Amino acid sequence: MTLLELDTRQSPITNHQLPIKNRPRRLRTTPALRAMVRETELNARDFIYPLFVRHGTGRSETRSMPGVYQLSVEEAVREAEAAAKSGVSAVILFGIPKEKDPIGLENFAEDGIVQQAIRAIKKEIPEMVVVTDVCLCEYTDHGHCGILNTGEYFHSSLPEGYVLNDPTLDVLAKVAVSHAECGADIVAPSGMMDGMVASIRDGLDGAGYENLPIMSYSVKYASAFYGPFRDAAEGAPKFGDRKSHQMDPANVREALREAALDVEEGADMLMVKPALAYLDVIRVVKDAFPELPMAAYNVSGEYAMIKAAAQNGWVDEAKVTLETLTSIKRAGADVIISYHAVDAARWLK
Ligand code: PBG
Repeated sequence: MTLLELDTRQSPITNHQLPIKNRPRRLRTTPALRAMVRETELNARDFIYPLFVRHGTGRSETRSMPGVYQLSVEEAVREAEAAAKSGVSAVILFGIPKEKDPIGLENFAEDGIVQQAIRAIKKEIPEMVVVTDVCLCEYTDHGHCGILNTGEYFHSSLPEGYVLNDPTLDVLAKVAVSHAECGADIVAPSGMMDGMVASIRDGLDGAGYENLPIMSYSVKYASAFYGPFRDAAEGAPKFGDRKSHQMDPANVREALREAALDVEEGADMLMVKPALAYLDVIRVVKDAFPELPMAAYNVSGEYAMIKAAAQNGWVDEAKVTLETLTSIKRAGADVIISYHAVDAARWLK
């Protein structure tokens, strides 16, 4: 039987036997109706825009993140101004130090690159919320997120080269206080060390910064989606991986445990990272801790995939980006850290 025969004998199109009372399409008829019933709305105020700051002058584009640059302090201020103009009200800073060493001394140096950038941005744009990433990996010569089990810190019951938890906590607290002294508005520990929020809270309170919020990278997975970031921030581990501290992508119950510990230790905001392959985790953590604002990190690899496809003409960059960001917010994120932030804010206008 041909389709035509089927159609004339018993057409489902012309046979109105079934009364259809419920027609969800009624509310999709016009743009105004669709806007009226829209459940999730992106806003430029939802975004935090990452900036990579380095010594020297000018800016250089990163290899695997088109449109993302390593910036001098002056250029970082310029980029923050552009963000403010687009409606984005927060930046997060990552530093590339002049020199690296086993502990990462520039991380808490008074004239460190992030310290300079915080002061410069707060001076020129006082209303900009300056968040700082607090971790060791960009500053250590081995590229790991903590102090390694070697030399003076050697701990015989642990494997050589293992990232030591407790000695790292003191450094993290020092870094956070140093950022606070320069005028940072929020510190964001990203190293997945046990007790990092408690240690930083203690350090900040002891230095008189009891009002400075901590946004903890509570649920951070050992993800291949960080690849392009490690180029941009020059923070790839020189050997091994980060699996002894970052989470296994297969786990979600463990995410609740990590988040609960951070809440107990005094975190003011939680974070899930990456975002796109972990939308279910965002939802679960949000439902478990609805009282805390939650951030999600739309990471470098997620950005790079959209950029690459868009440059090939395979997807519509603006539409795919806004759809992606909407999905992250719909999953439960209140705040989204994204390299798309400024573009997205402009597209939303
Ligand atoms: C660690 C840190 C990383 C990212 C943010 N903070 C890298 C890592 O854990 O290896 C990744 C962010 C991204 O991929 O965009 N300081």
